[in-house]
Amino acid sequence: MNFESKLPSVGTTIFTVMSKMAAEYGAINLSQGFPNFPIDPTLQNILAEKASENVHQYAPMAGNPELIGGISKLIFSHYGRTINESTEVLVTAGATQALFTAIQALVKADEEVIILDPCYDCYDSAVILAGGKPVHISLKDDFTPDWELIEQKINSKTRILLLNNPHNPSGKVLDENHIERLEELMEKNPQLLLLSDEVYEFITFEKPHISVHTRRSIRERSIIVSSFGKTFHITGWKIGYLIAGEQWMREIKKVHQFLVFCVNSPAQAALAAYLNVANTHLLGQFYHQKRDLFRKLMTPSKFILLPSEGSYFQVADYSAISGEPDVEFCKRLVLDHGVAAIPLSVFNADGKDRKLIRFCFAKTDETLIEASEKLCKI
Ligand SMILES: Cc1ncc(COP(=O)(O)O)c(C=O)c1O
Repeated sequence: MNFESKLPSVGTTIFTVMSKMAAEYGAINLSQGFPNFPIDPTLQNILAEKASENVHQYAPMAGNPELIGGISKLIFSHYGRTINESTEVLVTAGATQALFTAIQALVKADEEVIILDPCYDCYDSAVILAGGKPVHISLKDDFTPDWELIEQKINSKTRILLLNNPHNPSGKVLDENHIERLEELMEKNPQLLLLSDEVYEFITFEKPHISVHTRRSIRERSIIVSSFGKTFHITGWKIGYLIAGEQWMREIKKVHQFLVFCVNSPAQAALAAYLNVANTHLLGQFYHQKRDLFRKLMTPSKFILLPSEGSYFQVADYSAISGEPDVEFCKRLVLDHGVAAIPLSVFNADGKDRKLIRFCFAKTDETLIEASEKLCKI
């Protein structure tokens, strides 16, 4: 049967390819963004305790009420925003499901979603599956949004601006000036919704993260997404959350209830208890040390390290080493030098190759030392 794919340009992602190559060739994997150190033993113990309790059936659709209360406190403690716990919070199966669900609920056929490249890889397919049209706009060379260009692309069909801050893959954190430009843009375009992917919200270094939660003028038209995977080093748990005004949340919940209905109950119960003792204010400091260590170790290398202001990624320019396309360079990095990284061109819809690759420094110090020793020999 001749079947036309709904996602003809989607293949195996580079994350799977590089992680598989790293495993096959015994390379150090700094490609995929996941920590390789143990999780907090307190969280592990709470999970074990919770597993022995009666928490194994469906949770309420929007999430475990205790966890929702914890999320609401977390947002208040970081941003001073008071959330309506019964109408504005949804616990999701990771940020990926939050983003997908919001797009399915809010984007109609032929409506446009502005995506800023380079970008995380799950956005585009979600828009296409909703029948919408992804409109890719390149970030400037320093990975900040080109607000004039964005404004030019907005038209009566533009439904959502998708913004990721702190940014994967670049580690860029938007400053006050950019957030003001965002507010101006939203004000000028009252039909526009903002989908704000803030999964690395607690991982910033010198600069603070300015969350959309803190912006009264735009937060009512914003859907803000976060991930416990990033915050508590538990990417495999796949639990995240989404905050949205009631009008948008009503629609989002309609999709959520038929997509997953609810999210893993024991994990929700464990996170609800853990939020009472965890200190998310220390996360930035933890990764700050890792970033500084990795950058120091890489100083003697021929790589030029770009600024890393947030997230757990470090972008490096390899043009002093090779003129190869970035995908080829990354493959050779595994085969010849035993380190896996991610080529930045795969985050660009047009495949633009600036000879940049991304390393993940959410790794033990030993792993970072071993990897940088190999990278400094090139
Ligand atoms: C920018 C960004 N958004 C969303 C996600 C997905 O998060 P989750 O694992 O919670 O689905 C990631 C994961 O790497 C990410 O980097």
